[in-house]
Amino acid sequence: MKYFIEVWGCQMNEHDAETLGGLIEKKGFTKADNYNDAQLIVLHTCCIRAKAEDKVIGRIGALSKLKKKRPEMIIAVGGCMTQQEEVAKYIEKRFDKVDIIYGTHNLNEFDNLLSTVMENKSQVKSISDADQMDIREYIPITRNDKLKAFVNIIYGCNNYCSYCIVPYVRGREKSREIAYIVEEVKELLDSGFKDITLLGQNVNSYGKDFKDETNFSMLLKELDRLGDYRLRFMSSHPRDFDLELVDTIKNTKNVCHQIHLPLQSGSDKIIKEMNRGYTKEHYLALTEYIYKVMPEATISTDIIVGFPGETENDFLDTMDVVENVGYDQAYMFMYSIREGTRAAKMENQVPEETKKERFHRLLELQKKKSLERNSEMQGKIYEVLVEGLGEKNRLTGRTRGNKVINFKGDISLEGELVMVKVTDYNTWSLYGELIGE
Ligand code: 5AD
Ligand code: SF4
Repeated sequence: MKYFIEVWGCQMNEHDAETLGGLIEKKGFTKADNYNDAQLIVLHTCCIRAKAEDKVIGRIGALSKLKKKRPEMIIAVGGCMTQQEEVAKYIEKRFDKVDIIYGTHNLNEFDNLLSTVMENKSQVKSISDADQMDIREYIPITRNDKLKAFVNIIYGCNNYCSYCIVPYVRGREKSREIAYIVEEVKELLDSGFKDITLLGQNVNSYGKDFKDETNFSMLLKELDRLGDYRLRFMSSHPRDFDLELVDTIKNTKNVCHQIHLPLQSGSDKIIKEMNRGYTKEHYLALTEYIYKVMPEATISTDIIVGFPGETENDFLDTMDVVENVGYDQAYMFMYSIREGTRAAKMENQVPEETKKERFHRLLELQKKKSLERNSEMQGKIYEVLVEGLGEKNRLTGRTRGNKVINFKGDISLEGELVMVKVTDYNTWSLYGELIGE
């Protein structure tokens, strides 16, 4: 029996799907390459924007049709989308071909849900309260990569940014015990992983729910002792990212100087309405300090255009920050109304046309900045972790700053650290030549 998981959304979801994979394989299934070869199909969903949800509904419709021809097929739909009670009810009523509906916090019982469906041939639904999640350790995880691995350090989010549905579906912050994190990273390094990314909606909150003094800097220092590897983390919150953390990163040997620092908006008025708790000035001072302490740092961001009440001047403030910081990469989104959030009730919603127009202006600016950032790398030498073959049969790998470089070389170098000189670039890619191993 084979299974296929389709995942939408963030890296946290990608990693949750690896956990699901582990539980499914425990039941004797193996991974299929596509839908057609699979007896079990899992849609692991996201609800951050309406578009993500619409796509899933379309997919369930298509799979329901397929199931008419292949009645033995098992369809499971779960994750953040079905964590919302009304959505789960809607799917349950409208699509009788869906066998399993599970919430974000019921991932850990997927093996049991699967057994129930296989034994009773009836639909099962399991959705727990978002705040009732118990962290379950020692789940067998199927890793999608041989070199790079994700490790959860904190679940949930307490920030309640006014546009965001995450705190409602993922619940309140719950940090994972430091000892379990250390143990997992040690095991990963022992089995040959070389690039570890710590995950959390707001990693800077790590440890705040503990009774002792544990915090994110302490965790980084602890993990830094475990060997020679690359350690990354995401996402950070500009309000909680203090200068001391910048110094900690600088003083470790393994933590990469790569920071994902969601801006969301550059306008003080909008940042306030978003309930983000910083100012444009604070944000710019922070990025300036990061570059001062770590001149070769790469910074990426998330930006929302068209938040309720955003005027042309507010948008120009966002453009100004993008111009000033010079992000290596920016993930840009048009504001999407999420029922149940505070911003959904705001009256001054921005017309779709205006959102689109601003989005395209921002995209053009970011393209210019990405090109500028890549041009700064021209002629310089970087340590690259070789990931495998990329376009045109060249090797592809990443720098410590997470920039992808393509270069000629032998595939036997996969998994190795090599030195590469950048010889060419465009907006999206960097090219180089191997100068040493
Ligand atoms: N509309 C558009 N983008 C959103 N994001 C979160 N909520 C919304 C929304 N309602 C974006 C934010 C966040 C990223 C993961 O998704 O930029 O950082
Ligand atoms: Fe959503 Fe804000 Fe939490 Fe990020 S920090 S998950 S944007 S509420």
